[in-house]
Amino acid sequence: MAVFTYQCNTRIHFGVGTIQSLAQQLNDGGFGRRLMLVTDKGLIQAGLVEQIEQHLKTNGFSITLFHEVKPNPRDTDCLMGAEMFRANWCDALLAVGGGSAMDTAKAIALLARHGGTPADYVDGGRMYGEIAPIACVPTTAGTGSEVTRGAVITEASSHRKLTLKHEWLRPQIAVLDPALTCTVPKPLTAATGVDALVHAIEGFTCKKTQPISQALAAQAMPLIWRALPLAYRAPDNIEARSDMLLGSLLAGLAFGSADVAGVHCLAEALGGLYDTPHGLANAVFLLPMLRYNIVGNESLHAQVARHMGVAQRDDEDEDAALVLIDALAAWLKALDIPPLSHIDKVQRSDSERMVELAMANSSTASNIRPLTESAYRKILEEAFAATF
Ligand SMILES: [Fe+2]
Repeated sequence: MAVFTYQCNTRIHFGVGTIQSLAQQLNDGGFGRRLMLVTDKGLIQAGLVEQIEQHLKTNGFSITLFHEVKPNPRDTDCLMGAEMFRANWCDALLAVGGGSAMDTAKAIALLARHGGTPADYVDGGRMYGEIAPIACVPTTAGTGSEVTRGAVITEASSHRKLTLKHEWLRPQIAVLDPALTCTVPKPLTAATGVDALVHAIEGFTCKKTQPISQALAAQAMPLIWRALPLAYRAPDNIEARSDMLLGSLLAGLAFGSADVAGVHCLAEALGGLYDTPHGLANAVFLLPMLRYNIVGNESLHAQVARHMGVAQRDDEDEDAALVLIDALAAWLKALDIPPLSHIDKVQRSDSERMVELAMANSSTASNIRPLTESAYRKILEEAFAATF
């Protein structure tokens, strides 16, 4: 058996109503009194942030509000947040939102304590070190960032996606209340949910996978596969929302100690260039990348198909791997995922830039089938030609 490491020290509190115990969780975790709440303007308008602020203030916390979180978070915003964190002598961070809020909080915590820019850490110049504690309250089911040691930040000047990765960045506390996800709009429910499934599939199949990641991904895949169409059709279905949030958590734990792979490399290229929502960017590349990946890896993808319940135990591996593609195509269609060519701002003429960005992504090396520039070009062509 291969040598592997698995670590996750996040205290996970899961279930409907758990948001009511947030202050207690922060007290138990030894968080200081002065919190920076990192969120986006949409959640403020929806009234959720005010409810959480009230709950925390009643329990003796003071709040510095940072509401500049945007999809595909920028390094410039993180620098601004770090300055605010220092100026207000904050003790800890609370991220309320999706992956962008959580990744922004991680970057703010790092920059506030250790200075520099996100690129300084990725390009190797600056050392990671201990940061202020972070608690996360995810409001979408998809990212898994509440339990991972990574944060993806866009360098505004170059459109490069920078992956900060270190054990210091892992949140101490994650409070996952499925009720908070019931108000997520349908397109965002679909896109973030597909991201979660891609985390599970890539966490299961990538070169850096390991037995614990595979066990977690094997649990996550059927949950997400069944629950996402239900949550998409009936947003108030709390059982489906719970299964999605649990599936997303398990998928985050799976890929967090393995890696993502080629789908994410192209998705991050798209997000960096056009601000495409991360989940949607993953969705449009999933099928062409899987068609590429199953060649020579039929047995591995047959396992994915069996875990999702779309193939039977006694199906031939090759058949099961092909059934997986067909089943996923129908699944994505039911979620009204548009094809790449219909996505806002995307230009086919930028394909070479996308290939370049994807090749530069460190997760390219983790893809189960080796990826070259010409392979990426072919996958992109297929994605541009898709009409689903
Ligand atoms: Fe992702």
